[in-house]
Amino acid sequence: MRLTRGLSAALLLGVALTVACATSGRMAPTAVPPRLFFMGHVEGYVEPCGCSEGQLGGVARRAELLRRLRAAPGATLLVDAGNRLIAAGRSGEIQAAALALAAEAAGVAAINLGEDERRLGADFLSRIEPVRRLPWVRANTDPPATGRWPGEVARTVRVGGQEVSITGVSEAAAGVGDPAAAVAEVAAKVARGSRLVVLFQGQVAAADRLARAVGRIDLIVVADGEDHLDAAAHRVGATLVVATGTDGKWLGELPLTPGPLAPEGVQVHVLTEAIPDDPGAAHLVRDYYRRLKEARVLTEAVPRPTVGGSYSGATVCGSCHEDAFALWRESGHAHALTTLTERGKEGAPECVGCHTVGAGFTGGFVDATTTPERGGVQCESCHGVGSNHVDNPTRDYGRADEQTCRRCHTAERSPKFDFSTYWPRIMH
Ligand code: HEC
Ligand code: HEC
Ligand code: HEC
Ligand code: HEC
Repeated sequence: MRLTRGLSAALLLGVALTVACATSGRMAPTAVPPRLFFMGHVEGYVEPCGCSEGQLGGVARRAELLRRLRAAPGATLLVDAGNRLIAAGRSGEIQAAALALAAEAAGVAAINLGEDERRLGADFLSRIEPVRRLPWVRANTDPPATGRWPGEVARTVRVGGQEVSITGVSEAAAGVGDPAAAVAEVAAKVARGSRLVVLFQGQVAAADRLARAVGRIDLIVVADGEDHLDAAAHRVGATLVVATGTDGKWLGELPLTPGPLAPEGVQVHVLTEAIPDDPGAAHLVRDYYRRLKEARVLTEAVPRPTVGGSYSGATVCGSCHEDAFALWRESGHAHALTTLTERGKEGAPECVGCHTVGAGFTGGFVDATTTPERGGVQCESCHGVGSNHVDNPTRDYGRADEQTCRRCHTAERSPKFDFSTYWPRIMH
């Protein structure tokens, strides 16, 4: 009894003291440890495509989540472990600019130059101003064939009274040096009492090896490209290793408490539909699709040749297969391009592949202005190029089955897909 009372009295006193501190505004700034937010392996993922419900991630939700998390007391720091930009060419430039502006608006303090970025090349990264000015870190990239990689070997930032040095490396591969040697060189220059954070693009096992090789590291954030919904946080000696998952589907959070960082401190915030879009970031996303459309990026790709004939289009098939055509005409497949047009996304290379017929191939869909008659999922999306069959209609053409559907009805885009329930809805 007494003990309980004593405890509650102490608790009450504690509460009262906290309130007093807060209202008098004299709470020491170091009382709340700074928090580090981490992400990585975004690989061109601007937003969920909307093909099905319940999809995760997107820059607009992430901006809103960050705003909410930062409203809590204490300083914060956002890092990105790399492999953010992936698409080349004119559409890739527009995408890279959008993703760089999103990272900048999110206040990223350091971003690792991963293998995806290396593949795009130093000239590509330097040409796009918002990309060039991102705070890239890259300790083990070989000098590029031409130009110069943007960024620097390491950056030091101050957050909530702590000094944090951040460097970036990739797993050993062609074009990159030994990550352990590169990080050891950085570690030798890091001041005592300063934290060392390594942004790592590669496998978790390789990051673990790095932790063992260079004991001085406080935290390794791994862009591992594995589709998991947790940070797989674990310790290797005194080093905490966390992984980011893919597509920026969630944001990691970790308080930078004194001493070795603990796996228990890691939190994962999944970017579900429950988080609304930040209006500014949503505007950036709309602008991205508008720019793709205005630049008519789809007309720039050189079409690949088809094998076994060419595309004829559904109307030609319908001249003989009237019943199948009539059923198809009423199906969602026939209107799949309209789905994109209604949302202003018909100019996006990442959308048209499954919502049209023959995109990227000779005689197939080019863009909504040039080839409106190739819009929608058409007969030849499932039965294959049909001109030979049109010229000489025989039965040995056009086998289609469940595997055909799964080319587009992937687990990500169509999680409810089941041939036995979907086929009856479009049977012809
Ligand atoms: C890999 C193929 C694929 C790609 C790429 C793709 N989609 Fe889809 N999309 C589908 C499939 C399959 C469905 C139908 C899913 C279902 O009903 O199970 C669908 C459905 C949709 C729907 C819902 C239609 C409705 O009325 O129910 C929207 C919206 C959509 N997609 C937009 C997009 C956008 C925007 C992009 C590009 C960012 C895109 N899709 C890229 C395959 C794809
Ligand atoms: C000139 C008329 C004509 C046109 C045009 C035509 N077909 Fe056919 N199609 C036929 C005939 C005839 C058969 C064989 C029917 C039979 O023997 O039962 C056939 C059979 C098929 C079959 C079934 C094959 C099988 O193994 O049973 C498919 C699938 C098919 N056509 C799809 C298409 C598609 C897709 C197009 C458009 C690219 C198309 N057809 C255009 C006349 C046509
Ligand atoms: C070339 C890509 C592609 C292939 C192949 C494909 N689909 Fe689809 N499917 C889509 C897209 C895109 C949509 C969404 C259409 C829209 O915009 O509403 C869709 C929607 C659907 C829908 C919901 C719309 C409706 O009319 O009820 C069903 C059912 C469906 N598909 C069944 C199938 C089946 C069964 C197969 C295989 C025999 C298949 N699909 C093959 C891309 C494809
Ligand atoms: C979403 C994929 C898909 C689309 C789009 C599609 N088909 Fe089919 N079609 C199939 C599948 C699956 C079958 C049944 C499996 C089989 O018999 O090969 C089939 C069967 C057929 C058959 C054979 C029917 C029979 O009695 O054997 C014909 C003919 C045919 N389709 C013509 C067309 C025509 C014409 C169009 C366009 C107007 C079209 N299909 C659009 C997937 C598709």
